[in-house]
Amino acid sequence: MKTTLTYIGHSAFYIKSQDNGILIDPFISQNPKAKFDANLPITNIFVTHGHADHLGDAVSLSRKTKAPVAAIFELANYCAQKGAFADGVNMGGTLKFEWGCAKFLPAFHSSSTPEGIYAGMPASILFDIGGIKVYHAGDTCLHQEMKILGEIYKPDIALLPVGSHFTMDIDDAVVAAKWIGAKKVVPMHYNTFDAIAVDINDFKQKLQKENIEAVVLNPSESIEL
Ligand code: NI
Ligand code: MN
Repeated sequence: MKTTLTYIGHSAFYIKSQDNGILIDPFISQNPKAKFDANLPITNIFVTHGHADHLGDAVSLSRKTKAPVAAIFELANYCAQKGAFADGVNMGGTLKFEWGCAKFLPAFHSSSTPEGIYAGMPASILFDIGGIKVYHAGDTCLHQEMKILGEIYKPDIALLPVGSHFTMDIDDAVVAAKWIGAKKVVPMHYNTFDAIAVDINDFKQKLQKENIEAVVLNPSESIEL
C-alpha cells in the first residue's frame, strides 16, 4: 500500500494513503511559508493542541470537507461549537479508521484556543497507517514518555519540533530521537518566524552521529512511507 507523507510547513503534514487524506495541525492560510494543494482529498483532521499555529484552518476545512477534527476533548468541543465535525478523545485513547489508527499521547506544553480559553492537555499523536508507525510529537519539551514510546510503540518515523523558544531545541530533539528509536526523523516547528530560527544542518549532522536519518523537507516535499 502506497502511503506518502507531505510537509506543509511549520508542524503541518498531510498523509495520503489510498483514498484517505490525513491532515495534521493544518496551519496553512495564516502561514505565508505553508504550501498545500487545497484540492487534495481530506478525510481526517488531527490537531495536537489549541494554539493558532496548530489549530490553523482545522475548523473551516472540516466544515468544507466534513472531515472530523480529532483532538483532546475540550479542544474538540471548541471546534464543534465553531461548526466543525469533531471527535473528542483523551490521553491513551485510540481512534480506529479504515487506514489504521491514531493514539493520543502526552506532550509537555500548554493549550488554549485563539480566544484564550482552556483547551485541555496538549497532545502528541501516534499514527499507525497500514502498519507504518508515524509519531507527531506536537509542541513539547523533551520528556520521559518518549522512552516509553521507544520501548513499547517503536515508531518508524518521528516528526519532532526543533525550533526552541516554544518547544525543545536541536540538542534535546537529538536525545528525543534516540529515546523514541525511530530510524527516520523529520524536523518541524522551526524557521517559520524569527523566534524559532535554527540552522537545520546542525540537526542533520548531530543525528547522523547517532546513526539516525534526518529527513529535512521543504514545504510541499513528500516522502514515501
Ligand atoms: Ni503551541
Ligand atoms: Mn506551536
